[in-house]
Amino acid sequence: VTIHDQQLHRGAGGELHQIAEDGADVLTTAQGGPVADDQNSLRVGARGPLLVDDFHFREKIFHFDHERIPERVVHARGYGAHGFFETYESLSDVTRADIFQRPGEKTPVFVRFSTVAGNKGSADLARDVRGFAVKFYTQEGNWDLVGNNIPVFFIQDAIKFPDMVHAAKQEPDRAFPQAQTAHDNFWDFISLTPESMHMVMWIMSDRTIPRSFRFMEGFGVHTFRFVNEKDESTFVKFHWKPKLGLQSVAWNEAVKINGADPDFHRRDLWQSIQSGNFPEWELCVQLFDQEFADSFDFDILDPTKIIPEEVLPVRPIGRLVLDRMPDNFFAETEQVAFMTQNVPPGIDFSNDPLLQGRNFSYLDTQLKRLGGPNFTHLPINAPKCPFHNFQQDGHMAMRNPVGRVNYQPNSFGEGPQESPSRGYRHFPSEENGQKVRLRPESFADHYSQARQFFLSQTPPEQRHIAMALTFELSKVETVAIRERMISHLLNIDETLATTVGQKLGIQNMPKAADAAMPTRQDLEPSPALSIVER
Ligand code: HEM
Repeated sequence: VTIHDQQLHRGAGGELHQIAEDGADVLTTAQGGPVADDQNSLRVGARGPLLVDDFHFREKIFHFDHERIPERVVHARGYGAHGFFETYESLSDVTRADIFQRPGEKTPVFVRFSTVAGNKGSADLARDVRGFAVKFYTQEGNWDLVGNNIPVFFIQDAIKFPDMVHAAKQEPDRAFPQAQTAHDNFWDFISLTPESMHMVMWIMSDRTIPRSFRFMEGFGVHTFRFVNEKDESTFVKFHWKPKLGLQSVAWNEAVKINGADPDFHRRDLWQSIQSGNFPEWELCVQLFDQEFADSFDFDILDPTKIIPEEVLPVRPIGRLVLDRMPDNFFAETEQVAFMTQNVPPGIDFSNDPLLQGRNFSYLDTQLKRLGGPNFTHLPINAPKCPFHNFQQDGHMAMRNPVGRVNYQPNSFGEGPQESPSRGYRHFPSEENGQKVRLRPESFADHYSQARQFFLSQTPPEQRHIAMALTFELSKVETVAIRERMISHLLNIDETLATTVGQKLGIQNMPKAADAAMPTRQDLEPSPALSIVER
């Protein structure tokens, strides 16, 4: 108790009001009222009914009753830590982002790692993509790089995201499986979505059962833009490279770990940071221009494609160190709100249709999840640079404009003003075309990079992919779905397809899939719903 506290707590007669008999702070209600007895409810006589007069009981239970907020619709299970980002060199030639101007400068960050499909209470070692979301508290506002540990994604257009997530999460009638991909709905959707084949190769690899968060890569996935002072744009892909290197566990280890300690990844991060063993990643970029982009036969706007590092090596531009655990899991890790649309001046979007959809989705979902429009007032989400605007009121408003003026322009000379030179300028890309719904032809090749990834793996890694596919598809009861998957694998690698097909006991191998999306007509005549005898 400080002297200041003691003065506040001292009554007119000098007695200490809010200091308990043993010198600790007095337990109070949320209204600050001191509590005499926190163990026994107010009642009539020793064995009589409880009384509505008991405002302490009512407030305590009321607050407890409202402790839960909706879990994230995806990435519900996560674990976060604080740290810093240190810039290696000035990137002023390509971006005017303040964070990349001065070598050696440190910017505070908060990072949340997560699984995607599992519920909040699911196990850490599920075979799943891991989220790798970084909030940089820059001098020009928050920059959120909301990435994954896999450099590509399942779908090319955000309009498919609800279907993809519905299919991946628990099936609605039985409410399982809670944390893994092995089920009919998931593989049904995947087998009907050829664009997911590159991602499927990655998720069937050991990458989706990482040994710990500390041994994972991270990727911004989409092509973004850096924009410099002269409004010139350079395309950029972001990569996180772990200092400890990349390590995974084997599937049989993952299964045992999940049983023995479902909190394995969070315990690992907690213990390493608490013991001063701070995990570190390098932020690397692939920078390229339009001419380079045009040299590929795939589209750099397609989030199911990578730019191979052999073709365009990554360039380290800074390091991320995690050195402090949150004081409170709920206040920080649960309430943190990452949003792809949080970009500072000098970082801009490309026309990747998945990224553009995400830019709508995150703000929308936070409104619901965090209970209103004022979630930026929470300390974990508030910028750490000066910020001023005329937003006011709403549920839980903790920051309202001070004084009379809450609008602009105003003639009282009060309040913040726009700054054409310092403010965010969107890259003035030229856009024209008809208003249409279509998938561009340049997004049509779904197999080449899936094949490249598979062939880039070592023989044991390739075996793991075959085993994972066999295990996953063996859990799928619908024969047509299994066969449809094999027909895709035939377009990726024939030996892989045959190995998996044989292990699944498929007698007559199907034909290789037509690369085009199957239509309802294609599906109707097939014995789509025959069920394997168990
Ligand atoms: C949450 C990554 C695609 C909607 C997250 C999180 C990550 C992430 C890391 C967890 C953030 C946290 O830790 O709080 C990605 C990546 C994507 C992708 C890398 C593709 C490249 C999408 C798409 C949509 C979407 C296409 C919707 C159109 C959401 C939503 C959340 C979320 C609604 C929950 C946010 C919250 O409640 O805090 N995503 N996502 N994501 N994502 Fe994505």
